[in-house]
Amino acid sequence: MAKEDQKELPNNTRLPELGSIIDIGGTRSMPAITKELLLHEPAGRRILSVVTLSDYPGLQLWSKLTHTPTYYQTSDEILLLQKYAVEISSSIVPGSVIVDIGSGGLRKVMPLLDEVEARQMTVFYFALDLCREWLEDDLKALTSRYTHVQCFALWGSFTDGLEWIKQFNGPKVFLSLGSTLCNNIIPVASKGLKLWADAMVPGDVMLLGYDCNLDEEKVRESYIAPEGKFDDFIRHGMEHSNSLLERDWYRPEDWELFREAEFQNEPQALVHRFVFRAQRDVKDEVLGVDFKQGDRIICYESFKYPPSVLQQQFSLAGLQEKASWKSPVSDIYEFLLVKD
Ligand SMILES: C[S@@+](CC[C@H](N)C(=O)[O-])C[C@H]1O[C@@H](n2cnc3c(N)ncnc32)[C@H](O)[C@@H]1O
Repeated sequence: MAKEDQKELPNNTRLPELGSIIDIGGTRSMPAITKELLLHEPAGRRILSVVTLSDYPGLQLWSKLTHTPTYYQTSDEILLLQKYAVEISSSIVPGSVIVDIGSGGLRKVMPLLDEVEARQMTVFYFALDLCREWLEDDLKALTSRYTHVQCFALWGSFTDGLEWIKQFNGPKVFLSLGSTLCNNIIPVASKGLKLWADAMVPGDVMLLGYDCNLDEEKVRESYIAPEGKFDDFIRHGMEHSNSLLERDWYRPEDWELFREAEFQNEPQALVHRFVFRAQRDVKDEVLGVDFKQGDRIICYESFKYPPSVLQQQFSLAGLQEKASWKSPVSDIYEFLLVKD
């Protein structure tokens, strides 16, 4: 059989029914991730995990925000992917299993998949994310659009995805679009990237999209949406944490929400974050929550690293940059990474 006609996964793994959603962990790890970051202060920082924003209402709010004219992160990366789709997709070989790590919306990945489809090349695309209803919507759109690109979804966390991918020994493509990987303080970011790098063997590739903009005003403006919609999205995460932790520990009146942006050296970055600040002491003995007035919880933190800092992260993770492309309109990049 010509490789282009291949209709089964590379190592004879039984192909799931086209368009199916595979439960590789569902939302089971969400309470644990929320607890770990919010209650145990890893790396000395209390963080409201982005998983709290990854339910259906959260992703619907987020998707609307990506259409805000000042939210350049989505539109500029789409322009990049449209402009270089032919070059970028030439690194995808027939029969590849493509895992879209934190697939979110589909607008970005479509230019790439359209190009693969136009070449009539069979590949197996798996959207990995935490919200089943969201994945269902996405899959409907994809399966009606493609024949050669066979589409599926993995419903679960990144940890579940890493475990699931171990069964394949054929060519793999990892997509991390929208600064999904590497967006953290360096020790955490490098560790996360290395987990995916360790799942790669020579011949596999990772396409990593990252926002390297250091223009403070542009970045600040991008996190402001009409009618306070960005704040609604962030507050939704706190409300959702009540149901994830099965305790109404969060009461909006106890917390002030604001945003801040700062330049940091060592490593160089522009960091933008939303911050909840306690207006009074907040306690929940069952959960072990004990916030003092003035304590902070960081949410939706964005590390805008220049390419040189990302390149250090790639090399720490054992990845080598094979090519890169820059958005025609801003400092958004795609990096094509291979195993050292
Ligand atoms: C920054 S968004 C990027 C979405 C899309 N790739 C893009 O570029 O527009 C990150 C996505 O990763 C998902 N996500 C975040 N943490 C996750 C985790 N631990 N496991 C699975 N998905 C996660 C979120 O639900 C969200 O859809």
